[in-house]
Amino acid sequence: MTKILCIGAGYVGGPTMAMIAKKNLDVEVTVVDINQQRIDEWNSDNLPIYEPGLDEVVKEARGRNLFFSTDVDKGIAEADIIFVSVNTPTKTFGHGAGCAADLQFWEKCARRILEVSTTDKIVVEKSTLPVRTAAAMERILESGKKGVRFDVLSNPEFLAEGTAIADLDNPDRILIGGHPTPEGQKAVQALVDVYAAWVPKERILTTNLWSSELSKLTANAFLAQRVSSINSISALCEATEADVGEVAHAIGTDSRIGPKFLKASVGFGGSCFKKDILNLVYLCQTYGLTEVAEYWHQVVKMNEYQERRFVARMLKEMFNTIAGKRIALLGFAFKADTGDTRESPAILITRELLAENAEVIITDPQALEHAKIDLADVAEHVTFEPDPYKAAEGAHAVALLTEWKEYKTLDYQKIFDSMVQPAFLFDGRNHLDHAALHEIGFNVYSIGKAPLKHI
Ligand code: UDX
Ligand code: UDX
Repeated sequence: MTKILCIGAGYVGGPTMAMIAKKNLDVEVTVVDINQQRIDEWNSDNLPIYEPGLDEVVKEARGRNLFFSTDVDKGIAEADIIFVSVNTPTKTFGHGAGCAADLQFWEKCARRILEVSTTDKIVVEKSTLPVRTAAAMERILESGKKGVRFDVLSNPEFLAEGTAIADLDNPDRILIGGHPTPEGQKAVQALVDVYAAWVPKERILTTNLWSSELSKLTANAFLAQRVSSINSISALCEATEADVGEVAHAIGTDSRIGPKFLKASVGFGGSCFKKDILNLVYLCQTYGLTEVAEYWHQVVKMNEYQERRFVARMLKEMFNTIAGKRIALLGFAFKADTGDTRESPAILITRELLAENAEVIITDPQALEHAKIDLADVAEHVTFEPDPYKAAEGAHAVALLTEWKEYKTLDYQKIFDSMVQPAFLFDGRNHLDHAALHEIGFNVYSIGKAPLKHI
């Protein structure tokens, strides 16, 4: 029986391994993590991450051919294939601080694998890494010369949070990078076989290692660029009375452009886009490609501009002062259907509102616990309220920051009646029925559209 190990039981490692175990009954999958609490949660009825459909997949496979443990060394010793899915955040110190990827966890894993292994292993990079990281990994693994063979592959994960299970079940493609040598190709084939249990062969792409590593960074850069591009146009729409939804629809019907990922918003968040683009920028700088670095950096700068612009507009429309005013934020997660708040636009927006001495009340169906951690240093100025109606009570403005489905069907008449007048509503996701809200009496401001005002 093939034994697979995954180091890192996070948003990527957990769901991905659960799906591999579900689809490969002849493979035993173990997920290890240094965080005991996380592992305990994976072994409980209360999984550490909220992801639609994940509970069922884990329940089906756990204890059968899916195991969660903190025994990293045992897992390494027994495994044939080791996925490394530990976090690779942006460096906060030293050379490349604020831009380069922090590879310390990843390198520790490589050294541990070298130390503990007594049998041959295929080591798979699942974490998103700078291009040519596999070369460094190979150098570490080959430094031992213990007669153990290591083949390094790159297999980036393209799942998006909130739709992880559907993305894993029916991926657009699986990407596997390996060396063109016979040994490298044998390793590639072993991993192809794992995915071929449920993914059609033509969707499993194999490339060289460097193309695979670079494709992940490039995919995220292109996706984020689309959001920044439409968000830049939203600013122009607000200045000209064009409607960004109409513009997005008009351009998206061109089959060369396509309709997806063109929703103007308060800004993109999530653990990957900003980190990976900065990683790409740093790589370009390292290779002396200054213009290329600047080109991609602009995507991140445009996103920050969009987040700040949202608060600036609130301030301007609310008579240039929000000091002492109650502002209710509907949603704190970086997108709907996840409790994840990493790089959520809501974090910067809350801080900007607090800087104006506003009182901020935050509600979210899944992300309140993370919000409390993100805002721990300013928690005494913020109220965390699970009930959206209570959050909006006595508020001067409501700002929708996450497109949760349940926010579409709230009783906005009830909300309006409980608010201070004139009541303002800022829709950072163009998620609500603006004409109906205007009819109720709200002054409605959305992204890239003309406002609907009573005053
Ligand atoms: C991770 C990477 O950050 C990202 O670059 C890649 O694209 C996918 O994998 P994610 O799964 O969201 O993303 O990270 P996170 O939820 O932080 O999980 C990483 C886990 O690794 C954590 O549970 C952490 O405790 C664990 N870890 C970290 C180890 O087990 N060992 C370590 O040495 C470091
Ligand atoms: C992303 C990539 O999609 C995925 O392939 C990669 O593996 C990890 O990074 P994720 O961060 O989970 O996934 O979410 P995604 O759906 O890509 O959304 C990212 C951000 O962009 C969210 O804040 C979302 O609200 C925003 N967004 C997305 C928009 O503002 N407008 C859009 O049209 C699409």
